[in-house]
Amino acid sequence: AEDQRAVLRRSVREFPDFPSPGICFRDITPVLKDPAAFSAAIDLFESYLRENFPKIDLIAGLDARGFLFGPALAQRFGIGFVLIRKKGKLPGPTESVSYSLEYGKAEIAIQTDAVDPGQKVVIIDDLLATGGTMAAACELLTKRNADILICLVLIELTDLKGAEKLRPHPVHALLQYD
Ligand code: PRP
Ligand code: HPA
Repeated sequence: AEDQRAVLRRSVREFPDFPSPGICFRDITPVLKDPAAFSAAIDLFESYLRENFPKIDLIAGLDARGFLFGPALAQRFGIGFVLIRKKGKLPGPTESVSYSLEYGKAEIAIQTDAVDPGQKVVIIDDLLATGGTMAAACELLTKRNADILICLVLIELTDLKGAEKLRPHPVHALLQYD
């Protein structure tokens, strides 16, 4: 597992001053380009879930980069994947939650038939920064009466204290950066 974590860590690039000065952007695109790194990520997520949760009903992924990892992970468990999207993208009846960004607001939505009440759901995204996006996803799934097991991310930017914003929902990150 530590070997897989090392493979994964080597595949994350940093771009200083993107998308704005002072921000160090962690780029996961090389993880997708390298099949060994991608399977290391999915293996690590899978073993964490198998060790901690005897029953999982669904994986919910966050727009857009949660969509890159969630379906592959769901296949390992033979379970379904559902989409939490930016507002205005999903057809039919939806429920939404708005949340604050550094500047302005955003809104995410889920189809009302995506999750049944009481289903045990794992939420996945590529990265936890301030936690605003993941906290909104927890709020949305809570409104749908889902049972949120864990918030999974490849990367947690620990200085931004996103995990605190998610309490009482737990987070598991494959990699942490200051
Ligand atoms: C990024 C990232 C997470 C979110 C984390 O997506 O993929 O979803 O920001 O930030 P937070 O913890 O401060 O909320 P972004 O909103 O840039 O949109 P994208 O999916 O369209 O790339
Ligand atoms: N990388 C990718 N997405 C992000 C980042 C980052 O460093 N910070 C906030 N969203």
